[in-house]
Amino acid sequence: MKALLCKTIGGPDDLVVEEVSAPSLGPDEVRIEVHACGVNFPDVLMVQGKYQVKPELPFSPGLEVAGDIAEIGAAVEGFNVGDRVIAMTGFGGMREEIVVHAGRCLTMPDEMDYETAASFVLTYGTSYHALVDRGYLSSGEKVLVLGAAGGVGTAAIDIAHRLGAEVIAAGGSDEKLSQLKALYGVSETINYNEEGPELRERVKAMTDGRGADVIYDPVGGTAFQQALRCVNWNGRILVVGFAADSENLPKAATNLLLLKGSSLIGVFWGRFSEIESDRNRANFDRLFQWYAAGELKPNISHRFPLAEGAEALKVLMRREVVGKCVVTLRD
Ligand SMILES: NC(=O)c1ccc[n+]([C@@H]2O[C@H](COP(=O)([O-])OP(=O)(O)OC[C@H]3O[C@@H](n4cnc5c(N)ncnc54)[C@H](OP(=O)(O)O)[C@@H]3O)[C@@H](O)[C@H]2O)c1
Repeated sequence: MKALLCKTIGGPDDLVVEEVSAPSLGPDEVRIEVHACGVNFPDVLMVQGKYQVKPELPFSPGLEVAGDIAEIGAAVEGFNVGDRVIAMTGFGGMREEIVVHAGRCLTMPDEMDYETAASFVLTYGTSYHALVDRGYLSSGEKVLVLGAAGGVGTAAIDIAHRLGAEVIAAGGSDEKLSQLKALYGVSETINYNEEGPELRERVKAMTDGRGADVIYDPVGGTAFQQALRCVNWNGRILVVGFAADSENLPKAATNLLLLKGSSLIGVFWGRFSEIESDRNRANFDRLFQWYAAGELKPNISHRFPLAEGAEALKVLMRREVVGKCVVTLRD
């Protein structure tokens, strides 16, 4: 079978597609014929050796896949050969077949196609966990989403709307922000790269001076420093990621938290999904119900075959993606 391989730490240009032998199957594992693999920012960091998870070389990028179960380990219950599943692989997804622990699989909703399924779990799982479990976002509240056009950002917009919250979408290009208006009906947007009033002043103007109730931050950098200064009394700032600079992490002036009675809250969906797997599954039951009812709109802006998997990582690095990018291996 074919696999996209990271054989040396470097970047997307160092990735190669090669024939590899199929992995053996353990008793608690399932073999999946991969139809599609979602691309995420951690893939970019992992091939550069900058992510907290550092897989042994060689490895395939790809944190999430959708496909069909081709074989089942002797101790596996609850799945059958032929089942359509989503698997949270951690890494290793960009290959024609993958073996994963059955506990990392979810049954794909009937209504979902493979590409959507492969690009749903990580972003929607993260943003639901962030906004609901960590941020207690409630109907009528105002949430500022930074990096709003990205994978977790678009999922945050979609989920916040479903929860009845109002969204201010902040991103780095007018073109991407206008796509968000068309896709998600966001009315308030801020381009944090353009000249003009600072992000915090724009947010205050959009909230009658109060600031945002919840700030969803997958970006870090200077955007985070601005966010600390435009949160409402009792506000919650969700630390989701550091897309702007994963090596120079932002520091918080704690007096700003004191003055607003606000909370700075860490979000790590991957650990949550392992440590609180039952709660994570309950979150997906709800997300899949919303999807089946047509209440969520996951967006895929870029699709690539496995042979062009490196390009899939590059479009993410060039900040061109609106929603998700996916590598498609089978129809
Ligand atoms: N905590 C968790 O559990 C969790 C889970 C998943 C992902 N994450 C993290 O969340 C962050 C976003 O992940 P994602 O998959 O949504 O990525 P993505 O689709 O690439 O989106 C990242 C967004 O960040 C913005 N950005 C700002 N500065 C950037 C830079 N220097 N390089 C690239 N993008 C930049 C971009 O928007 P503009 O161009 O509009 O500024 C882009 O849309 C990553 O740091 C990732 O590791 C965390």
